[in-house]
Amino acid sequence: MTSPSMTSPSMTRAVLLAAVAAAIFAQGNRPAPPGPRGLPDAPGKDTVQRLCGSSCHGPQIVAGKGYSRENWATVVNGMIARGAKVEASEFNDLVDYLGKNLPPRSGAAGAGGSGFIGAGPDDAHVVDPAAAEKGLSIYVAECVTCHGNKARGGPDSLPPAQRGSDLVRSLVVLKDRYGATIGEFLRKGHPTQSGRHSSSIQGEEAINLAHFLHQKLTDTLRSGPYNKPINVLTGNAAAGREYFNGAGGCTKCHSTTGDLAGVGAKYDPVTLQQKFLFPKSFAAGRGGRSVTPPKPTTIDVTVNGRTVSGLLLHMDDFNVSLRDEAGEYRSWARTAQMKITVHDPYAGHVALLDQYTDKNMHDIVAFLETLK
Ligand code: HEC
Ligand code: HEC
Repeated sequence: MTSPSMTSPSMTRAVLLAAVAAAIFAQGNRPAPPGPRGLPDAPGKDTVQRLCGSSCHGPQIVAGKGYSRENWATVVNGMIARGAKVEASEFNDLVDYLGKNLPPRSGAAGAGGSGFIGAGPDDAHVVDPAAAEKGLSIYVAECVTCHGNKARGGPDSLPPAQRGSDLVRSLVVLKDRYGATIGEFLRKGHPTQSGRHSSSIQGEEAINLAHFLHQKLTDTLRSGPYNKPINVLTGNAAAGREYFNGAGGCTKCHSTTGDLAGVGAKYDPVTLQQKFLFPKSFAAGRGGRSVTPPKPTTIDVTVNGRTVSGLLLHMDDFNVSLRDEAGEYRSWARTAQMKITVHDPYAGHVALLDQYTDKNMHDIVAFLETLK
């Protein structure tokens, strides 16, 4: 589930700088750029140069476009949406530098008209609703059970060690701009619901999550439309039943009178959706009732004809480790001769994620909720 990104940094930087070039040229109609040496010296210059390589435009091209930090953030976000990979921390440096050192002409409204008034690096995060929508799905997949369905903190029913704090009042979120602080926080390691390592939530995912949390923040301050619990019960239960018994293939492994009897009473709707999409996830039952913990993933490693089995602890392209039955920690550098077999009891469910449409998901949750 956690396959490392196959995209090389130099390639993604090339994509980024091509997009920067395109964005600037689209505004400018100027001759070929003179190269990075014309950029002003200031903190962040290194990042910009590293990201742009030799193709950066000189200040005479960029300056006077009337781009504020906010505008640059929007431009760079657009590039990320088109495939440029920018780490959350790089993102902040990049737009800080561009916004601070290549500011709008004084008094000019700038390229985009009225919205494009210059502002300093302390600009508020400007929410992009489409990105916030993507951030919501990450939040529902990884954070909602502990931080609550308003992001205002987990339910009192959770044991204190698992009760996530109010993210709308969190300094991590308040200080964040475009995922920089949130990305940094997650890089250090934090629980997730699916069991993926939080440090893998970077780049675009951290940025989308930031858009979602800032949307919650501004909406809470203004009591706007997003300041309501996330409603996961928007589906059609009858359509959900049909899908469950038919195209969804759920009855291959489940029965509504057997293992899933009463599942609607067991979990609240958000947790139910969570458990259906990611059955491996940590989740407490309604009212904080404890439920059987998810089954672990096990692994067999065969080296020189000897097989060692145990609980999978870590596996990437280079290393693999497990804890064997005796409780012993074992780890290997991976080789081509080594045979590795992973037994993930939830692999079937993970494969299903590609199969459902959004409507299927909502219908299924509405149906499961009726199983009380
Ligand atoms: C298993 C429960 C759990 C999950 C899942 C979880 N958190 Fe937390 N989170 C906590 C707890 C408990 C705290 C408070 C203690 C701490 O800081 O570790 C916390 C604290 C935080 C804080 C710091 C708040 C502050 O200002 O001190 C942030 C930010 C945060 N979580 C974000 C997230 C995000 C984003 C996700 C999803 C990717 C997530 N958390 C998933 C339990 C969880
Ligand atoms: C290949 C077999 C398989 C298929 C197909 C399958 N599931 Fe599951 N499902 C599982 C397993 C295994 C678990 C984990 C049970 C456990 O941890 O005890 C699970 C867990 C669940 C849970 C959580 C139950 C709980 O009490 O925590 C829900 C809800 C669920 N599945 C719904 C569905 C739905 C809806 C479908 C059809 C779209 C589906 N499953 C298809 C194997 C399957």
